[in-house]
Amino acid sequence: MGDFLYDEREQTKAKHDLLRRYLERFAYKILHGYGAADFIDGFSGPWENKDRTRFRDTSFGIALETLNTAAANLAEQGKPARVRCIFNEKDTAAAKDLADFVERVRPEFPRVEIHALTGSFEDNAPQIDRLATHPFRLVFVDPTGWTGYPLEALKTVCRGRCELILNFMHEHIQRHLYHPSEDRERWLRAIVGDDIAAEFAGRELPAEDIRAAVLRMFKTELRFVYACHSPIEMVEKRRLHFSMIYGTSAADGVFVLREVEKKALPDHEWKVKDRRARGQLSMFDDEEHSPGPYGAMRSRHLEDLPALVTELARQTKDAPRTFKRFAATVMEKNYVSPTEIKEKVGELAKQGLIEPTWKTRNEKARVPDVGDLIIWIADEIN
Ligand SMILES: C[S@@+](CC[C@H](N)C(=O)[O-])C[C@H]1O[C@@H](n2cnc3c(N)ncnc32)[C@H](O)[C@@H]1O
Repeated sequence: MGDFLYDEREQTKAKHDLLRRYLERFAYKILHGYGAADFIDGFSGPWENKDRTRFRDTSFGIALETLNTAAANLAEQGKPARVRCIFNEKDTAAAKDLADFVERVRPEFPRVEIHALTGSFEDNAPQIDRLATHPFRLVFVDPTGWTGYPLEALKTVCRGRCELILNFMHEHIQRHLYHPSEDRERWLRAIVGDDIAAEFAGRELPAEDIRAAVLRMFKTELRFVYACHSPIEMVEKRRLHFSMIYGTSAADGVFVLREVEKKALPDHEWKVKDRRARGQLSMFDDEEHSPGPYGAMRSRHLEDLPALVTELARQTKDAPRTFKRFAATVMEKNYVSPTEIKEKVGELAKQGLIEPTWKTRNEKARVPDVGDLIIWIADEIN
């Protein structure tokens, strides 16, 4: 798609690249497995889009195109699937633009049942939940600031088999919620629940701590098995603009997320550097040459990988787990791939520290496959 739609909106492009790529993979996997899925866009806009006719630079435009194409391809392969999109927008003018667009393009997306709702996500959560009757949901929460998605609304919408992508407005939250105040405490209680909020009361809070609390909330309150985040860098300053937070209960969800991130984020960080290099923004020299947050963290995680794999493998001594679960646990917090983890496990097996269970499946196999058990057999000398 023409990059001109995202001129000076690099962060939005990165967010949309992640969403499009994730949706593509999600659609084939979930529609193939369950035959039907709901996509719920709780804060759908339109918002600051440049394409006023096709809305290709909006989350709902991207969802319609991607999901309709996936369903059409599956139908061609003899695997018909049902897709429903539920778009929700609070601002009445934007909601009217959304509804007009939906009415105009409905015939172009015949594989998708489309609903456009007006009202706040919080107020409409029960209606959204009633509409979403398919066996799997993907929920996208992309607010303008840091309000509008209280825990109770998320709990209402994130039920059953579900995944959630939440845009955590890192920069805004850092700027507005660092200092303790009554408003901040109220916000924290609404977002992460009373118990987690109580731990933070009265403290200065960097956005990383709040993000860690939201990640915890995804697991303790929303019951996702895995909660991960992807960093989207600001153009203007060497800081995070967004953290895209993902909740999933499937190891495959973690694999897909890390894979799409590896495709979308280096490109974003390259574009950010390019804009700075073109002299449109001044940076200190060392900042100009250092990698972006994704690149920096990925290098660190690769460096740490031998230690991480060893530590987690040692924990499997009493509770062996499949490679799939093992890898998803490593990848929940680290920007690495299953192939990179397999190589490390293979090396530990060569050193006699992990049982090469995969040899019983195929004696020539060098590394584990998803279903092979990871079993720690020895403690390292000293
Ligand atoms: C960042 S924009 C969404 C952009 C869109 N998801 C995209 O990627 O193209 C946030 C939208 O949420 C709307 N909004 C703000 N508060 C809301 C609320 N409480 N419930 C639903 N929508 C809300 C705003 O009017 C705005 O259109």
